[in-house]
Amino acid sequence: MSVFFILMKSRMLQHSVLPFCLTVVVLLLVQSCEGSLSAKSRLIADKGIVALAGDDVILSCSLVPANSASSQTVVWTRPDLDPKYIHVQKDGQPVCSSQNLLYFNRTALFEEELKHGNVSLKLSRVKISDGGKYFCFVQSVVWAVSIKLTVGKSAVSCF
Ligand SMILES: *[C@@H]1O[C@H](CO)[C@@H](O)[C@H](O)[C@H]1NC(C)=O
Ligand SMILES: *[C@@H]1O[C@H](CO)[C@@H](O)[C@H](O)[C@H]1NC(C)=O
Repeated sequence: MSVFFILMKSRMLQHSVLPFCLTVVVLLLVQSCEGSLSAKSRLIADKGIVALAGDDVILSCSLVPANSASSQTVVWTRPDLDPKYIHVQKDGQPVCSSQNLLYFNRTALFEEELKHGNVSLKLSRVKISDGGKYFCFVQSVVWAVSIKLTVGKSAVSCF
């Protein structure tokens, strides 16, 4: 809100009525959007994860408030890859056809956790090339969230 007050203040300093009115309209629009979005869940995720090559990691992402995601489409992507799909799940089943082959047989969601809105991704046997920015989407939510995975070389790994 404080941003808008600053905005309004700077607008009023210009002694012009039109910009002031526009600001009020924008303010009202933003408020009504915030109102309708807050009725639904949003996603929260870890900011970043650090792992060593060969580790199994959990990229944490969940709905708040915790609505069930069991029957929702859940999508994990890495937009810097082509195909960008890391893990896609529809009607409780993984959709393997769209998956980037680099992630074959290394991804899973926690089935029991989905009903608590927890759509965290388990990524097994991480490689150096897995380092990057991952996005978590759930069908009912407007905004995706991202998590950065950093993978370091392990002393004993061959990757
Ligand atoms: C998938 O990974 C498991 C180890 O977690 C391995 O035992 C299995 O053979 C792999 N399946 C395929 C099809 O590569
Ligand atoms: C989601 O489930 C995973 C696996 O059980 C767990 O490690 C993680 O802490 C859970 N996240 C939340 C927010 O409960």
